[in-house]
Amino acid sequence: MGIVKVHDKSFETYLTEEMIQARVKEIGQSIAEDYKGRKPLFIVILNGSFMFAADLFKHLDVEAEICFIKLASYKGMKSTGKVVTSIGLDEDLFGKDVIILEDIVDTGKTLHNFLPKLLHQQPKSLRIAALLHKPEATEFKLTLDYVGFSIPNKFVVGYGLDYDGLGRNLKEIYQLV
Ligand code: IMP
Ligand code: MG
Repeated sequence: MGIVKVHDKSFETYLTEEMIQARVKEIGQSIAEDYKGRKPLFIVILNGSFMFAADLFKHLDVEAEICFIKLASYKGMKSTGKVVTSIGLDEDLFGKDVIILEDIVDTGKTLHNFLPKLLHQQPKSLRIAALLHKPEATEFKLTLDYVGFSIPNKFVVGYGLDYDGLGRNLKEIYQLV
């Protein structure tokens, strides 16, 4: 709790570890209920989503697969508008129940660009679970099926999310002061 410094900026606690863990558990339970007997495949978008994915998976009382891809559109505190894929998808999605795990949906550009590539492979179903959503910042229309917290349009770090590479190890989520 309190104030942390990451690079040159100060951040204050916004979501505590207890709040995050309780919400992630709830999402895991909803997904497990919705996907009973269906063996969903989770696609985790690195880097930011690694902590959310690990915690969610622990609360997932259903058979499921998981794989990881790396997309990035951020530099510092601004979306560059350009989405770069640096680790691609080697899984075949045909006929699968796919769930994308994303740390945060901001402008929506990352997922907006990525979804057509996934749909092209004809999964049986495709849903999105995002830990955080900034509705005021979202420019690209997306249906988010599971959302942890809707938050104001302010930069956040912690719990996997970074400011220029740092801050990912924080257990809480901090907001720019
Ligand atoms: P979008 O394409 O604008 O929706 O941006 C999504 C990606 O930008 C997320 O997966 C994050 O990696 C990053 N991002 C967006 N907002 C924040 C933030 O407040 N803190 C840290 N990373 C962010
Ligand atoms: Mg990121």
